[in-house]
Amino acid sequence: MKIVILGGDGFIGSHLRKAHLLCGDEVTIVDINNYRTGKDLLECDLAHNTNYTIMDLWGSSNKPDLVYNCVAVATPSYYVKYPGKTFDLDFTVNKDIIDTIHALNIPLIHFSTSEVYGKTWSEPYTEESDCVLGPASKSRWIYAASKILLDQYILASNIDCCIIRPFNFIGHDLDWLPDIHKDISAERPWIPRVPSCFLNSLIMSKPMTIVRPGSQKRCYTYIDDAVEGIISIVKNWSKCSGEILNVGNTNNETTIDQLAYLMGNSWLELTGEEPKSPIYVDGVDLYGKGYEDSERRLFSDAKMRRLTGWEAQIDLHTTIDMTVKEAQKEYTL
Ligand code: UGA
Repeated sequence: MKIVILGGDGFIGSHLRKAHLLCGDEVTIVDINNYRTGKDLLECDLAHNTNYTIMDLWGSSNKPDLVYNCVAVATPSYYVKYPGKTFDLDFTVNKDIIDTIHALNIPLIHFSTSEVYGKTWSEPYTEESDCVLGPASKSRWIYAASKILLDQYILASNIDCCIIRPFNFIGHDLDWLPDIHKDISAERPWIPRVPSCFLNSLIMSKPMTIVRPGSQKRCYTYIDDAVEGIISIVKNWSKCSGEILNVGNTNNETTIDQLAYLMGNSWLELTGEEPKSPIYVDGVDLYGKGYEDSERRLFSDAKMRRLTGWEAQIDLHTTIDMTVKEAQKEYTL
């Protein structure tokens, strides 16, 4: 297959790229960066471009079989600090991308976000659940609001597209590590997602910072598992096109307190170094006054299982152990 990955240097995009190249597919990525894809020797076309309407260049004779749209900055700290830019990228730029691909009539996998389900939780989120966002004064929700609008636009436009809602995929190269990737940090005055913050603390022998109360929960899904799930969508395209699908591991729910403990424990087993005791802070002190948290993100994967037969396999301990081990191997002597 001929595959194009927009945002192919991002966390999910770069893992999809590897998986498709290993399957023998022809892969082109379009991205403004090459932090991740520049690190390995797998060959693929890289179109450095900020203008994602580069898709026009394919014309009708050399169209890809599938486009992934992974263009986003998926870090809450960014939404709080730069709500306007978040809207521009996650709605305006993404709408142009979707319109271009629709006009070319190319099958599309578009990444929405588990963030759309919002801040409150009463039962496992299905794709039909209500989305309860916080008030407009809390800029944290501008990302989710932009993504919901686009999800609705895609469904209303009858596009040959499957919308994926990823639930906290983690693994190698999730985000930059602020004290290690100094060049990237200089361009990004905001903090990465929590697994990367915790890894940075472990590697630098600093205390991890936990946002109160610490009992907020996420389901962490190992990236290789998730990529297998996404490829099962491609293989079952006729059933998945036109659908929204939750993708993740419903068995891997943990609190952030427990995540800190488990990552610290993996680190101790690997290195013999005892992690420092964590410090607790309020969310608004870490992120700014536009921050609110999601208390829980337990979801249903029943639709994904029904349409593709795929179910996540890699348990929480293995997911965390592998994530910590890969970072330790790459970033310590
Ligand atoms: C983020 C994105 O906003 C979602 O779009 C995305 O779908 C999701 O990650 C994902 O990776 O799938 P979230 O899980 O809230 O959502 O992001 P994190 O920054 O990783 O925060 C998780 C929890 O850790 C929050 O409760 C946060 O307050 C806490 N946290 C964060 C800490 O306790 N310490 C830190 O240093 C950073």
